[in-house]
Parts: sequence; C-alpha cells; structure tokens
Amino acid sequence: MDKETAKSTILQLTSDINYHNELYYQKSNPEISDFDFDMMLEKLIALEEKFPEFRFPDSPSQRVGGTITKSFNTVRHQIPMLSLGNTYSPQELSDFDKRIAKGLGESTYSYVCELKFDGVAISIIYENGLLVQAATRGDGQYGDDITANIKTIRNIPLRLKTEQPPAKIEVRGEVFMPISVFKKLNEERLEQGSVALANPRNTTSGTLKMQDSSVVAARKLSCFIYTLYIDDQETNTHLENNKLLSSWGLPISPTYQHCASINEVLAYTTEWEQKRLKLDFDTDGVVVKINEMAHRSLLGNTSKSPRWAIAYKYKAEHARTQLESISYQVGRTGAITPVANLKPVLLAGTTVKRASLHNANEIERLNLREDDYVFIEKGGEIIPKITRVDLQSRPKSSKPVEFPTTCPECSTKLIRAEGEAVHYCPNENGCPPQIMGRMAHFIQRNAMDIDSMGEQTIKLLYENNLVKNPADLYDLTSNQIINLDNFKERSTENLLVGIAASKELPFERVLYALGIRFVGRTVAERLVAHFGHIDAIIQADYEELISAPEIGDKIAQSLIAYFSQESNIKIINRLRAAGLQFESQPDESESTTQVLKGKTFVVSGVFKNFSRDELKANIKLHGGKVVSSISAKLDYVVAGDNMGPSKKEKAMALNISIINEDEFVKLTQT
Ligand code: IVH
Repeated sequence: MDKETAKSTILQLTSDINYHNELYYQKSNPEISDFDFDMMLEKLIALEEKFPEFRFPDSPSQRVGGTITKSFNTVRHQIPMLSLGNTYSPQELSDFDKRIAKGLGESTYSYVCELKFDGVAISIIYENGLLVQAATRGDGQYGDDITANIKTIRNIPLRLKTEQPPAKIEVRGEVFMPISVFKKLNEERLEQGSVALANPRNTTSGTLKMQDSSVVAARKLSCFIYTLYIDDQETNTHLENNKLLSSWGLPISPTYQHCASINEVLAYTTEWEQKRLKLDFDTDGVVVKINEMAHRSLLGNTSKSPRWAIAYKYKAEHARTQLESISYQVGRTGAITPVANLKPVLLAGTTVKRASLHNANEIERLNLREDDYVFIEKGGEIIPKITRVDLQSRPKSSKPVEFPTTCPECSTKLIRAEGEAVHYCPNENGCPPQIMGRMAHFIQRNAMDIDSMGEQTIKLLYENNLVKNPADLYDLTSNQIINLDNFKERSTENLLVGIAASKELPFERVLYALGIRFVGRTVAERLVAHFGHIDAIIQADYEELISAPEIGDKIAQSLIAYFSQESNIKIINRLRAAGLQFESQPDESESTTQVLKGKTFVVSGVFKNFSRDELKANIKLHGGKVVSSISAKLDYVVAGDNMGPSKKEKAMALNISIINEDEFVKLTQT
C-alpha cells in the first residue's frame, strides 16, 4: 500500500470507528457487532504500525492502551482544583441560600442541581479540539499526568466534535466505574480465587494509577463532565456550558436540573434521594451551583471552596461502636480475610456485629488499634464497612493490631507474596476451611450444581470423616449418610441422586469445579476448547499452555503448580473412575464435523463466496475457534481481498499458514 492510500484508509477507518463508538457509548444503539468493531480497530492499529507517521494523537487506537508509564509526571493546575463545602440538612441548605442572597444583593439568581458522583476528580485539557492532557486532582495545585489512562475511557472524546474547536478548554469531571462493571470484576476475581475489591470508588482510583494503560482499558471506566473553563468565548450560564459540552461530544449526566429557587433545590434533593439508588453509578449527594457565571465571579472562592456552590450529602447510614476483636477467616484458596467483631449496634434497621476489613493494608490505612471506637457505614455491600477510627476516644493503653503470622485454623506459617495485599495459608490439604471451601466451590451452581447439598452438609460430612475432597463424594453410600444428623431415607436418596446427576455435566464444568486458581468459568471453557482432554492439559508444558488462546503466564503457572501435586492427580483419577466427564464432547446438534477441532483462525479481508460472519460461523460449525489478533498461537489466517498488509507480514513472520477461501473450504471437506 502506498503512503497516500494508507493515509486515506487510516482517516476513513478513524472516522468509521468514531462513528460506531459514538453509536455505542453515547447513543447505546450500535449498528455493527463488537467483533466487527474490533476488526476495524485492529486494521487501523496494523496500518499505524506500518505507517507510524500517520498515527495521529486522536486515533481511536489509543483506546486499547498499551502505554506503560514508569511514574507519572506532575502537572500544575492552571486553576486550582478546589473542594466543596458540605451540608447535611434542608436547614443548612437554606442557610447557604441566605448567604448567596446576601452576597448578590438585589439581583435575581438561579441554581443548577447535579448529582454528586462518587468517583475520582480529573481535569482534561483540549487544545484546538484535541485531548492533550489529563490529570488527577492531587493536592489541588499539582496532580499526576494520567493522559494515557484517561484516553482509554471510551466516553471521553479524543477530539471534540466540532469544525471550529476553541483554542483551549479545560474540563473537569468525575471518573467512575459503573456498578455493573464493578460487580462483574469482583465476580471474576472471586471465581479465580482472588479477593474481592472494596468498592467502585477505590477501584477507580487504583485503576487510574495503574502503569499499564491496557489494563486500564479493560476495566471499562466511565466519566461525567461538570465544569468547563474556556478562554476565548464568553458563556453566561452553567446550562449553556452543559449544552456546549454536550455538543462537543463530552459526557454530561442527563440528571441535572435548573432550579429557580432554593425550594426547587430541596425538591430535587428529595426526588433523587431514592432515585439515585437505581443508577448504575454511585452518588453520595447533590451539588448545588449558581447558574449565572457573572454571579459566580461576584461571590468568588474561599481558599478551599467556591462560595457559589455547595454539596448536599445524603446521610449515609452510619453508627459509632467499639471494636471487640478481629477474626481471621480462611477462604478456599487459603486467602486470609480479617473481619472486625463489633459491639452490636443498630444501623439502617439491622443490628450490626461485624465489618469486613479486607486485608492487612486496610487495617493499616484505617490505623486501627485494639479497643478502638470506629464509625461504620452501610454501602452497597451486605457487610458494612468501617469508615474511620474515632481517634479522640482511643484508649491510652490501646495496642496496634498485629496481623497473625500463622494460620488461625491450622497454625501453618502464613505467606505474603511480594507486593501482594493478601496473606495466604499454604497448607492446602490440611487446613479445614480450605478443604471445605473447595468442596463448597465444587458443588456450587456454576460448577457441579449439586443442589441437594449445601455448606452445612459438607461440614457434616467433613466432620464425620466421610469427605475431604470432591472425589470422596462419589464414594458415599446411603448407609453412611442415613446415620448422620437430620438425614432420613428421602433426603439421603436426594443427596445421592444429586451427586450422581453431576456426572453428566460437561468437562468445562468439571475443570472449573476443581477450583484451580485463576481458572474461572471462561478460562475453563478456553482450555477445554483448545486441549479437549484432561490428559492433554496435564501433559502440556508451559510453552504449550501459553500458546493456547487467551491463556497467559499467570494461568499457566497455576495449572502447572496444580497438576504437579500428586494429591490433585489422585483426585482427578478417582473422579474419572467415578464417571465424571474429562473430555470435551462435540455438540452433535450443531456441528457437522469436528475437522477443525483445536484449530484457531483469524479471518481478515473481503471474500467472494462468504460474508465474514458466514465464514466465522463455518469455522465454529466445524469445531474451530475464531480469534481477532495474529499471534503465535494461531493455526490459520483465512485471507480475503484487502487483507491488512501488516497483518499479513506478522502472520508470515510467525510462519502461520495463510489460506484463501477456496483452500478453507477444502480444509473443511477433508
Ligand atoms: S463541581 C470546586 N459537580 O465533589 C469543585 N463536583 O467535594 C466544584 N463532584 O472535587 C466541583 N460530582 O470531585 C462538581 N456534579 C458535580 C460533582 C462534583 C462529584 C466531586 C468533585 C469535587 C468534589 C468536591
């Protein structure tokens, strides 16, 4: 491809991708599949690699990240990033209104109410329409330059949507993780045996400080803008600003409202107190702002906060109580979670006795000591959290909390890997909560789905020395069960039927049920699709494992560690003997043949006899797998017309067979 064509193709792709991105993120109305979108993006990335002179700073390729920042540069905020005064009652809001009225004398004024988004404040600078810098608030004067990370946030435009962009603007807003994204992330972490993250805000703040922007891209953060500073254009009101910002494609939450009086402001706060709980992001109050810019200048700022705005905080239900002790719970992977035992206290209608402390870092962050008085709050989670220590009432004699060095359940010495927040008990096969935790994982709905059994039954069976690993379940006899507390004929039979039924479940469920660290449901499916048989997975060495699609270093290491343990192999052999599924079963109803089983394809270009989607469906129909990027793990590239040249080069460099559609058809007929 010559330079001119490359340039025009890049520009065309950029505009197409931006168009589809907007349909997806601003209008929630996509026209093309995610896969096709990714293909366009990949084509663009490949072209940019070949012609780096046409890699423009607003290219959508920046969305996927990839920049590694060693440490963030410090930038100075031209205008300090202030904070807001807080109010907690209608009375305090009325007092604020009185101060405003006094400050503005005779003139009429109005307010704009917005929700107070509970995320991380950022500043973004656009020059001539182009996003050139994004920074954290820092101390208000100086923040960290996190431009690469902010560019991965899909609803933040890299270029303003206007023919005549202003020379320079600064916008400010809040970055947050949608609650749905947060929940999914935590589910995946638990599935993989990692520890759950505390809440969306901390996760957002941690994510924005990550050094690898491709990890940030995967975290699916979002943003709302609420402030505009513009040099070369007079704007009169906040409402006008919001309209301008929207017209440039910047994300404004539609929840704001113009209020003519403080009574309307109060009505807004009442209206949103419950409504906000249905949104997919956390809010902790309302921000009340004077609408007119001229009034804002007149009122000015104190050193800390503007006089023309105030936050109205919804009462987070909180209470004060005393820490009685800390228990340390051991999870199925051996992770130790500290839990605070509190003097019982009433909070939001229930008596609270415990609060999660997550890990040693959290205890340190809170500066928690034995016998401290603490404030607790109820967030989205079931267990409330400790927000802070009441330092004033700390007993003089109080001692710092000492994190245990040995397992509270089995006394084995705990380990804590370099840089990890979590302590682990390494005694996998002798530590009761780990053993029972693994059993509970094995029988759960997403795994072997033995619903005639619960954690209580596991405990009972374990304590009666009947089971200590999943294989023991399949040796249970009705005589053994019927003698247990609360078991009768009917319940005994139910239990055994449930266990027997699990033998029919497909291999991927069994593999997931084994509870190998980092092998969640999706990873188990990938492994089964690629290797097909447990022996192939057991025998695979590191190289073979990481050459499977989407299997990386961490998972490969974990698989090797798991299968290198004699005790695990023994359990697998017994489960096999009991009749559980350890190889993938071709889905007869859908696939014609399995001739492409274990083979991985990339489809690229335009074809004569198929649409791209048809071709992909065809591959899957024959048991093959379609992925989107060229890597050493690939078996074939099916190339049509206009296949990206750099893709082709990459495939050739990796010695991957490039075949045309006719050759592909032959492949499926052998
Ligand atoms: S206006 C002087 N509007 O709340 C700061 N702030 O406690 C004026 N925040 O640092 C900011 N939602 O991070 C404004 N709709 C909103 C907001 C909002 C959340 C945050 C912001 C600010 C903090 C002040």
